[in-house]
Amino acid sequence: MDHLIFTNDGSHSIFSKEINENYHSKHGAISESIHVFIKNGLEKINEKNIDLLEIGFGTGLNAFLSQNYLEKEKIFCNYYSLEKFPINKDLSNKLNYAKELGLNKKKFNELHDSNWNIANKLSKYFSLIKIKEDVLYYQTNIKFDIIYFDAFSPEKQAEMWSEEILNKMFDFLKCGGFLVTYCAKGIIKRRLQKVGFKIISLPGPTGKREMTMAMKK
Ligand SMILES: C[S@@+](CC[C@H](N)C(=O)[O-])C[C@H]1O[C@@H](n2cnc3c(N)ncnc32)[C@H](O)[C@@H]1O
Repeated sequence: MDHLIFTNDGSHSIFSKEINENYHSKHGAISESIHVFIKNGLEKINEKNIDLLEIGFGTGLNAFLSQNYLEKEKIFCNYYSLEKFPINKDLSNKLNYAKELGLNKKKFNELHDSNWNIANKLSKYFSLIKIKEDVLYYQTNIKFDIIYFDAFSPEKQAEMWSEEILNKMFDFLKCGGFLVTYCAKGIIKRRLQKVGFKIISLPGPTGKREMTMAMKK
């Protein structure tokens, strides 16, 4: 059974029994998400109206942090998030992100209670579109400003990091758009380069040397 674990910054993550891996870094779920996806992701965009794609909705932590940032900065966002295996209500109810961040738990629950496959306008600035689908089969004409590539690691879920999927990510981005991921493996950076990305290696979150930003020029 999947179960909650505590990471080193006090925030929860989930251990996936099937994959045999945590959803986040053991060094800190919240600190990793803020570092990789907010500080080196959202905060690098200058637009006031954006389309964002997340690979793996999971705990909803990235969506929660993003919503908070977007509303604070008054940036309009359509937040698309793909998820093949949604977590159950029992687990999502227990996640301590709202408490750890000093934010509203009702707002966090709203992310999980939102309907799948439709746009849920959760605030003036934040529209959440959760898509219950395998990334392998997902198709869209939308050109995204940013992709949060938050799949399980290449060691545990190699198919998520195939040339085919990374090529798809490249196609999904608009020119000038970019992808961010916690992964900094050489083989993945070379594969990203091969499909057309320009790679920027950035300092990683606590406990990790590097992370990757991949730009579509
Ligand atoms: C490392 S976890 C991160 C999830 C999330 N971003 C979070 O912060 O909790 C990876 C997520 O990808 C999802 N996933 C795995 N395979 C997938 C697939 N083929 N298509 C879409 N999502 C997938 C998993 O169920 C899991 O929620």
